[in-house]
Amino acid sequence: MLDKDIDLDSFGIYEGISETIVTTMRGWTPNAAPMGIIRKKDRLFIRLFKGSNTYENVLAEKTLVANVTYDPVLFVLSTFTELEDTEFEPNSFNGISVSPLKKAQCWVAFECVNSKLTTETFVSELVPIRAHLNKCRIRAPNRGFNGVIEACVHATRYQLTGDEKYLKLIKAYGDIVEKCGGEAEKEAMELIYDFL
Ligand SMILES: Cc1cc2nc3c(=O)[nH]c(=O)nc-3n(C[C@H](O)[C@H](O)[C@H](O)COP(=O)(O)O)c2cc1C
Repeated sequence: MLDKDIDLDSFGIYEGISETIVTTMRGWTPNAAPMGIIRKKDRLFIRLFKGSNTYENVLAEKTLVANVTYDPVLFVLSTFTELEDTEFEPNSFNGISVSPLKKAQCWVAFECVNSKLTTETFVSELVPIRAHLNKCRIRAPNRGFNGVIEACVHATRYQLTGDEKYLKLIKAYGDIVEKCGGEAEKEAMELIYDFL
C-alpha cells in the first residue's frame, strides 16, 4: 500500500497525539523508543528532542516506523533499554530498510519531509509510505495501561531533570496501575521502579 491509499484511521492513528513505539535504523542496527505521532486533520508530524538515538537515526535516514501496540512492558523496555534484535522484523521495500516490531498490532512507515531543525528539536512532517496490519485486537480503555504510559513519560523527565516532583507523579500513576492494571501493566510498572 502506498501513500494516499493508506487510511490512517484503519491503522490506529487518529487526531491528536498517538503514543507509538517508533523504530528506526542505524545501518543495520534497529532502535525502538516511544514517540508521539501528532495528527492534525490529515497531516502528521513528529517532534524529536535532541540527544536520543531516534533523533540521530531519523536525521540521517529521514524514515521511521510507528508501531501501534498495547504491550506495556514493550513501552517500558523501549524507553529504558535497547530491545533485543529478536523483537524486530527487518524487511525492505523500494530500497528502504525498515524494522517494525514483531509484537506490533500494526505499523506505518513514514518518510520525513519539510523538516525543521532547531537547537533542541527536529520537527518533521510525516508522509505514510507503507502500512501493515498484523492482528487487530479490540481493547476497551484501561486506566492501568494509560497509567504505565504516564509513569513512563514522567520517568524520562525525572531522569533528565532529577526533579522529585516526578517521583510523586510516578507513584500516583503506580497506584492506578495497581488498582486497574492487569499482570502485564503491573510488571511494566515494577520495571519502571527498577529503572529509576
Ligand atoms: C509515551 C512516551 C512518548 C514519548 N514521546 C516522545 C516524543 O514525541 N519525542 C521525543 O523526542 N521523545 C519522546 N519520548 C522520550 C523517548 O522515548 C526517550 O527519550 C527514549 O529513551 C529515547 O530512546 P532512544 O535513545 O533509543 O531513541 C517519549 C517517551 C514516552 C514514554
